[in-house]
Formats: sequence, C-alpha cells, structure tokens
Amino acid sequence: MLLPCHVLLGLLLLLSLHTPASYAAATDTVSPGHSLAGSDRLVSNNSKFALGFFKPGNESSSYTNHNSYLGIWFNKVSKLTPLWTANGENPVVDPTSPELAISGDGNLAILDHATKSIIWSTRANITTNDTIAVLLNNGNLVLRSSSNSSNIFWQSFDYPTDTLFAGAKIGWDKVTGLNRRLVSRKSSVDQAPGIFSLELGLNGEGHLLWNSTVAYWSSGDWNGRYFGLAPEMIGDVMPNFTFVHNDQEAYFTYTLYDDTAIVHAGLDVFGIGFVGMWLEGNQEWFKNYRQPVVHCDVYAVCGPFTICDDNKDLFCDCMKGFSVRSPKDWELDDQTGGCIRNTPLSCGSSKDRTSLTDKFYPMQSIRLPNNAENVQAATSGDECSQVCLSNCSCTAYSYVKDGCSIWHDELYNVKQLSDASSDRNGGVLYIRLAAKELPSSERKKNGNISGFAIGATTATLFLMILLLILWRRKGKWFAHTLQKPESGIGVVAFRYINLQRATKAFSEKLGGGSFGSVFKGYLSNSTIAVKRLDGAYQGEKQFRAEVNSIGIIQHINLVKLIGFCCEGDNRLLVYEYMPNRSLDVCLFEANGIVLDWTTRYQVAIGVARGLAYLHNSCRDCIIHCDIKPENILLDASYVPKIADFGMAKILGREFSRAMTTMRGTIGYMAPEWISGTVVTSKVDVYSYGMVLFEIISGRRNSSHECFRDGDYSFFFPMQVARKLLNGDIGSLVDASLKGDMNLVEVERACRIACWCIQDNEFDRPTMAEVVQALEGLLELDMPPLPRLLSAITGGSHSVIPQYFDSV
Ligand SMILES: *[C@@H]1O[C@H](CO)[C@@H](O)[C@H](O)[C@H]1NC(C)=O
Ligand SMILES: *[C@@H]1O[C@H](CO)[C@@H](O)[C@H](O)[C@H]1NC(C)=O
Ligand SMILES: *[C@@H]1O[C@H](CO)[C@@H](O)[C@H](O)[C@H]1NC(C)=O
Ligand SMILES: *[C@@H]1O[C@H](CO)[C@@H](O)[C@H](O)[C@H]1NC(C)=O
Ligand SMILES: *[C@@H]1O[C@H](CO)[C@@H](O)[C@H](O)[C@H]1NC(C)=O
Ligand SMILES: *[C@@H]1O[C@H](CO)[C@@H](O)[C@H](O)[C@H]1NC(C)=O
Ligand SMILES: *[C@@H]1O[C@H](CO)[C@@H](O)[C@H](O)[C@H]1NC(C)=O
Ligand SMILES: *[C@@H]1O[C@H](CO)[C@@H](O)[C@H](O)[C@H]1NC(C)=O
Repeated sequence: MLLPCHVLLGLLLLLSLHTPASYAAATDTVSPGHSLAGSDRLVSNNSKFALGFFKPGNESSSYTNHNSYLGIWFNKVSKLTPLWTANGENPVVDPTSPELAISGDGNLAILDHATKSIIWSTRANITTNDTIAVLLNNGNLVLRSSSNSSNIFWQSFDYPTDTLFAGAKIGWDKVTGLNRRLVSRKSSVDQAPGIFSLELGLNGEGHLLWNSTVAYWSSGDWNGRYFGLAPEMIGDVMPNFTFVHNDQEAYFTYTLYDDTAIVHAGLDVFGIGFVGMWLEGNQEWFKNYRQPVVHCDVYAVCGPFTICDDNKDLFCDCMKGFSVRSPKDWELDDQTGGCIRNTPLSCGSSKDRTSLTDKFYPMQSIRLPNNAENVQAATSGDECSQVCLSNCSCTAYSYVKDGCSIWHDELYNVKQLSDASSDRNGGVLYIRLAAKELPSSERKKNGNISGFAIGATTATLFLMILLLILWRRKGKWFAHTLQKPESGIGVVAFRYINLQRATKAFSEKLGGGSFGSVFKGYLSNSTIAVKRLDGAYQGEKQFRAEVNSIGIIQHINLVKLIGFCCEGDNRLLVYEYMPNRSLDVCLFEANGIVLDWTTRYQVAIGVARGLAYLHNSCRDCIIHCDIKPENILLDASYVPKIADFGMAKILGREFSRAMTTMRGTIGYMAPEWISGTVVTSKVDVYSYGMVLFEIISGRRNSSHECFRDGDYSFFFPMQVARKLLNGDIGSLVDASLKGDMNLVEVERACRIACWCIQDNEFDRPTMAEVVQALEGLLELDMPPLPRLLSAITGGSHSVIPQYFDSV
C-alpha cells in the first residue's frame, strides 16, 4: 500500500526530530573497533529496540539512584521501560563510566575503566576470533561470528529477566538443561532479581512462584489454543501464543499479529504476570491482562508480619505492633521485606512474669497464613493460647471449631477479607505481642469487674431488643417487596441460599455474559435471570450503593434489575427473564426464526431509545460501554431490552480490565478505546452503529466471509458505505427476508449506521438524534466513508462531515 506524500513527509520529520545528533550514526552492532559508552545506544535496524546504559527511576524522587545498568528497552516509548537487564546484580555505581565492548576472549563485556575490572560478561565458549554483538529486530542481543551469522555463541533471549519478548521462549531446552524463566525485579529502581518468578514446569504447566518454592498461580494445561485456566489469553487484542512440548524442548512463546505493535508481556515487581500495550495517545502503558488480578493473591507480596488489603490504595500495611523494615524499599514498591517487631517478645524470660507475659491481639476477618501447626491437645481458645505462649518461636494462634492452629516465626500471606463469615479460610488470628504493645487491655483487666459485667449485660439486653425490632421491621419490608417485585420499590436483597435454590444450584445456564454467567431461576410466581459476577472485588458497601442507584433506572427498553445478593465474596444480580433470549441468537443462529423487517426496525428504535435514556434522561449519564447483540435481550413480544448497563459502576476498577480482556467485543469498540482518549457516550453510539449494520445484514460484521482472502472491501460497513453512494441498497439486507422490506427505512438505517461509526466522535450523532432520525423526524446527509475503513481499503474520501439537514 502506498502512503500519501504528506504522510511520508510527516514521518520523515518525526524521525529526524527523534534522532538527536549523538546517535545520528546509530548502529545495531558492537564490534572490536566499536564499543559503547556513556549515552551511546545500539538501535535495532527496525528502530523498535534500543540498548544502552540506563538509570531506572525518577530524578525527582526523594531517593537519588546512583546505579546504572546495561539494558534493552523500546526505542520509541517515552516512558523508559527496561525489558532486559544484563547486570541486575552488579550495577555500575557512579561516578565510573562503563564501556560495553568485545573483550580479549571474544565475549561481550562491561568494562570499568576506573578499576580496570570486568563488571559483567557473556562468558560463552568462543570458537572464532571474529565475534560481534548485534541487537536484532526482535530485541534479541546475539553474540555471533561476524563471518557466519548462524554461528551464535550467546543470546539475551536465553537469559531473560522479567520480560518475555515476542518470539522468545520461556521453558526448557531438555538437551542442554537450560531453563529460561522470568524473574521479577526487586523494585522500580533496583534491577536485581526479586523473589517472584514465572516458570514452565517440565509437565508443561506454567506457574508463578514465590522464592522458587510456593506456587501462587497456575496456568492449567495447554489445550491446543490456550492454557486451561487462562482463556483470556486468546482475546482479540492479545498476541498469538504457542506452546511446544517434545523430546528436546518444552516452551511457550508468542508472536505479534503486527510486528510494529508495542506489546509488553512480563512479571511486575509485585509478582503479577501481565500483558500490556503502549497507548501512544495517553503516553501510558495499558495492561490488557493480569494474573493474579488482585495484589493480595500474590503470595506474601507484602512480606512477613503484614496485612494485605486490596480495598486500600496502599495495599500493604504492618500488623499491630510492627513497623516497616525498610521505608525506602517500600516507597520504591518493594514491600517484600515486610515489617519488624517494635518490642521484642519477653517469652517468659522476665522475673516478674505476671506483668510482662506476652499478650495476644486479635485480627478479625483474616485469611490465615499457610504452614499452620495443628495442636490436637488444645480443645479451647485458652488452651490454644497457652500452647503458643509456652514456645518462644510461636508467633500466633487461631482457634476455630476444627481446632487449634499455631504458627512459628514469620507470618506470611495474611490478607484482610471483607467478610469472614462466608469465607471458609477466614478467621480470627491472634498475634503474639509484647505486653507493652497492648497497654489498653491492661487497664481493662484492672477495672471494676462487677461494674463492667453489669454494664455489659444491660448493653446486651438493649442490643437484643433493638435487633428484634429491626428484624421484625425488615422481615415485613422484605416480604412486601418480594410479593410484588414489579412495584418498583427499590431492589430486593436476596439471600444466596435462596438464589441457589431458585436456580437449582445454578444448573440452567442461559449464557456466559461479559462479567459472569447467567442462570435461569424460578421464584414462586415469576421466572428470573440470575447473573453471577466473576472477579467483582468491590467492597460490599459500594456494591450495594451502586446496585441501588442502578435499580432505580427504569425504562421499557432496559432490562429491569429486580434484586441482588451480596454475601461474602458472592455478588449476584437478579433480572427479569427474557423468553426470546438475545439479539445475537435471533439474528445469527439459524433456528428457524427470521426477524422480519418491521421487527428489526422496531428493535433498532427501541435500543436507540434505551441508550438515549441512559445517556440523557436519568440523573447521571450512564455510558454502557459494551453494546453488542449479546447484550440486547428480547421479551415475549420482541421488545428489545438492553442488559448489563451500569456495569462500569458496579464493577468499579475491575471494569476496564474486564472490558479489554473480553473476547468478541472488539468489533464493537470505538477507536478511542484503543487510542486511549477519555471515552464519552459516543462510544455507545459507535457500538450501536455496528449493531445496526448487523441488524440490517443478519450477519456478523466480523464474520469470515466479510474478509475474503484479506479483501476488506467485503467488510459489511464498507459495502454499505459504497452502496449508499452507488445505489442498490436493497441487496444489503439479509437475504432470508426475501426482499420483504421497507426501502425508505433501509436507506435511513444504513445512513445512520454509517454516521454512528465515524472515527471522530464529534462527527457521530447523539443517541437522541439517532432516535429522531429513525423515526423520520430528522433527514440525514450522505455520510462520508469512515476514515478507519477508507484506510483499510486504500480509498480516500474527504467529505466534510455534516450530517443533518433539518426537515
Ligand atoms: C536494515 O533495514 C534496511 C531497510 O530498512 C535494509 O535495507 C537493510 O538491509 C537492513 N540491514 C540489515 C543488516 O538487515
Ligand atoms: C517522578 O516522581 C514525582 C513525585 O514522586 C512525580 O510527580 C513525577 O510524575 C515522576 N516523574 C516520572 C517521569 O515518573
Ligand atoms: C566451555 O567449555 C568447557 C570446556 O570444554 C566446558 O567445561 C564448559 O562447560 C563450557 N562452558 C559453557 C558455558 O558451555
Ligand atoms: C583469526 O584467525 C584466523 C585463523 O584461524 C587468522 O587467519 C586471522 O588472521 C585471525 N584474525 C584476527 C583478526 O586475529
Ligand atoms: C556457520 O555456523 C554454523 C553453526 O555453527 C555451521 O553449522 C555452519 O557450517 C557454518 N557455515 C559456514 C559457511 O562456516
Ligand atoms: C527462600 O528460599 C531459600 C532457600 O530455599 C531460603 O533460604 C530463604 O530463607 C527463603 N526466603 C524467605 C524470605 O523465606
Ligand atoms: C501464530 O504463531 C504460530 C507459531 O509461531 C504460527 O504458526 C501461526 O501462523 C500464527 N498465527 C497467526 C494468526 O499469526
Ligand atoms: C517450639 O516449636 C518448634 C517448632 O515446632 C519446635 O521445633 C521446638 O522444639 C519447640 N520448642 C519447645 C521448647 O517446645
């Protein structure tokens, strides 16, 4: 494809701006005569990767970094992102000026001229006297013979740090025993190896490990397309993954569909595996995929004697009686050092035993640490605490109905749970502290016992009466709303057990919606659809607040939220049931039903009305963000109802993550999702336009017959745009209608759809305007070809967008 002249000129200008004089002579090779020093760079021939000395971190941060490293990064990414580091363990310390050169033995080495020492070397067995080091287009630094490029002695792909380059392997060379594994870096500044790693087991299963011993995430088995426990891997935005397992090798690798894409896959300093892409518009990395999803599911991410809480921005905190071991490391995102005791345990060593015996401090709703020792002998909480006190290495105990557990030495992996009652692993952890750390309990003990007891009894009695009253009130209210869920007085809070019963233990699955699965359920007088949310980690209070605000939104074209359930980690939403399933089933599945044109047009208007209501009429503007046929349900008389609105609010920050890892939605996503500008309600307009095309054609825009042999001119929106100019609109409509249609409406719908998918959101109409246009109250101009489409097909149209002539 030829680029227009002005684009080429622009590119050249850009390139020259990005190329300061010092690396005008940028090369990709270190050879005996050409070493690298100071701010010199090697740049791969395709300009994608650069190699040189760098200082990680932030000049303006309170800790000045005196260490520099030899590394590889993306040449064009403005935020320095190290992908590979040679000398993580042996940084070059200021003020020495290191040099990268081919040393006397033919290896590539970092030399320190001040001390005349070798800081790092490839240490390979060299069999020729003509080695050179080349930074390849895929980011691999290879040491090879200059005369024979396939004679390779060493390559950086065999010694990865925390990043898996496209085309590099992770896993085993069974012949040489080489195990390529990713190891996290210690902190955002310290490039030394950290405590987390990503390894492929010899059985071919991937694991994230803490200290090479504790696995906290497993990929599941490879099923030919993806690892069983990581199906998100094959989403549309994700690269092409491959897994190879034979006698010689067991490895995992990926390639990019587009070699120029800037994709970063690796393991971050918090032990989370991720895949991210660079958003040029935002100048920001955007993580499409991460495992584990939340920080506290990384084993011991906060180090010993800490408590991890994902609901807090700073998710690591010290346990009571402990302080951060190294505040500097904490600030640089390395919390694995954890916390240390403020006051040493007395451990019964003192003469005055009564006042100085160690005490226990209860921590509620806790995921208990691993490696508990079960003490069969102790049959009460008191006995359990005595067992712990009697051994100096014991640091905590917990007593639950299945017995007494005690822990020795350091406590790892303690997590704050939002609601312990429902979580089987949750419990109360009693941590052992020096008596001095708990002065208040001393005072309580010495207080007036009888007075305290009387006070307590009165308080209990009062509380019981209050509870009784509340319970009776609540019971009445509950019964009331349950009897008439259609009356619209708020939403019903269901018990989990009742929903379990209503759905027959979640046995009748209606669909695998975007954020969880949907099940059919039966209440005494109605049928319901129950959506079980996956990975919704939002706190209970916020979830309830959002559900209530969504619950009051009612419109004939929006699915009605009847109720919810929020117990422990369970988050469920209960909706009215739609007998005619969803639009995708009615349009794309050959099941005998063909929606006639009138119905299709009414569906189009209904969906537009529902969206217009969401955008304008209710109190806060709600952007749906995920309009697609699967989210448009049809009731008994084929009235369309939009489902899943308000998910952005209910899921909070999980939402954007979920959005981008989802499969199949990409065809409906407006370009600004990818370019990373702020999204507005116009993203829904774009998606609506895409759906409208599908309503007209009865086919998926992205179906394979639309891209015959890579020919994009068969892409349906493209055909529509062309036929609008050339006539013969009728041939665009679903052939199964056999010509039975209203041509005026067809042309209207085609024009509207084309206007809706304009690249520039300001060119798209609002949903309210779409409704008016569909109703024939607004006349539309001929739409210009959307730029995205014209770029694909190589056409060029420069109609100035101006879509309305008022009637
Ligand atoms: C570098 O790229 C240019 C084109 O951009 C090509 O002509 C040249 O052969 C390449 N050099 C090497 C060593 O691959
Ligand atoms: C450096 O750190 C400061 C404050 O710590 C922050 O405001 C600034 O954005 C950081 N700069 C970069 C380039 O990360
Ligand atoms: C280099 O060769 C020696 C002797 O042949 C051998 O013992 C050693 O393992 C080799 N080292 C590497 C890295 O292959
Ligand atoms: C490299 O070794 C070859 C013989 O193996 C010799 O002819 C050549 O001169 C050597 N080159 C250099 C640069 O030392
Ligand atoms: C180049 O190196 C490869 C690998 O060491 C070897 O198999 C091949 O024979 C060499 N080719 C020449 C022309 O020396
Ligand atoms: C990690 O493992 C090593 C050896 O397996 C052990 O010596 C070390 O104490 C462990 N580190 C921590 C923080 O437990
Ligand atoms: C994915 O990668 C494999 C191996 O690297 C390759 O054979 C296959 O063609 C790739 N698929 C696509 C769609 O690029
Ligand atoms: C304390 O517990 C540790 C670990 O179970 C054990 O090795 C040690 O013998 C115990 N010490 C005493 C005095 O019981």
